[in-house]
Amino acid sequence: MKKVLYVLLAVVLAGGIFCYTSWNRWFHNPPEAVYTTPDFPDRITWTLAEGTHDRVLSWRCGEAVDSAFVDFVCQGRADTLRVPAVGTVVDSRSGKSAFYQAHFSGLQEGAVYAYRIATGLQQTSWHSFRVVPSGNFSFVLFGDIHVPDSLLLSMVTVLDTCPASKDAAFWAFAGDMIERPTDVYWCAFYDALGDVPLRRPVLACTGNHEYLKALVKPLDTRWVHTFVNPANGPEKYLGRTYYVDYEPVRMVVLDTDGLAGPADYVRVRKWLKRVLSENPQKWTMVIMHHPVYSAAEGRSNPLMRMAFNGIFVRYGVDVVIQGHDHSYMRRNSYLDGRATTPVYMVLNSSPKNYRQKSHPVADCTGYGERFYQHVTVSADSLCVRTYRAAGNTLYDGFVVRK
Ligand SMILES: [Fe+2]
Repeated sequence: MKKVLYVLLAVVLAGGIFCYTSWNRWFHNPPEAVYTTPDFPDRITWTLAEGTHDRVLSWRCGEAVDSAFVDFVCQGRADTLRVPAVGTVVDSRSGKSAFYQAHFSGLQEGAVYAYRIATGLQQTSWHSFRVVPSGNFSFVLFGDIHVPDSLLLSMVTVLDTCPASKDAAFWAFAGDMIERPTDVYWCAFYDALGDVPLRRPVLACTGNHEYLKALVKPLDTRWVHTFVNPANGPEKYLGRTYYVDYEPVRMVVLDTDGLAGPADYVRVRKWLKRVLSENPQKWTMVIMHHPVYSAAEGRSNPLMRMAFNGIFVRYGVDVVIQGHDHSYMRRNSYLDGRATTPVYMVLNSSPKNYRQKSHPVADCTGYGERFYQHVTVSADSLCVRTYRAAGNTLYDGFVVRK
């Protein structure tokens, strides 16, 4: 009896020490400095809509909602359209901002549009935006880039000058785009991206760094208003778990950090099965922050594997894009000794590196370097090339043919 008591006491003590030492990692949120929102449109961001020919433009301006619209004209045409915008005041921990969104549909492939934003008495200069034709197109992919401002700036400057990004239909991010959910880091992110979000859409996935730490973690309130994604996801996940069709690819984005309990997994799995089984596109890519197969030492996400791996295989997902591990890994699936899909990729675009674990089944790994991906899509092939950010040299690549 005494022995049992000692064992129980040891377990309780060990648990207490573990909780005590992990408390900050689990629950501590660094305070957010008080901020004000400028009375001029900033953080102007294009996002993709559900359909290939639709887009959404968002921005923030001031701290109260005012009348807002977008003047929009197709190059070579005289008629300027005035598209109304809807505003919402979004509170964060230390400030508030009015965010706006305007929706555009039926855009012409290959056309260049000029636009300017008006909010209250403020009006931006004209910017231009090209709708990259679907069918044969390319886009760029980044893993986690969250780092302090100066490093982030250097990273994105490299990427923006890389040959691959010039013709990209959109820039996609596998989560952890900001260091922490504070205005300072949102500023750093937008400073680093420069005018990219003004001229091409951003396809964003949530990461744990966009969440506040808590027992039930809330996503930064600014996220869904900054990246206005299609509201075609499951209940509770609108604008966070979603899909877009850029013909002939269906891009499915999963908010893995928002999965708080069994009911969430059931809800998202049910939605995912429907979205994949009814998919009219030839290619399917999934973007999620937490890897199904981890790349970093000491990390594993068995819930991700149990919840999603079987669905990806069953419904023919071609490529699964993941982040979080600050280490690069590509792992093919195999059937009768031949490489097949899904191809699982863990991306890393950050100068932060986690020690890589051994990968007896990985087809390519990378550690201590920053990478980005250039994806080329056509009717019969999907080609993913991984480049070193330093020097834009080719590091890895594969082609899926159907
Ligand atoms: Fe992460």
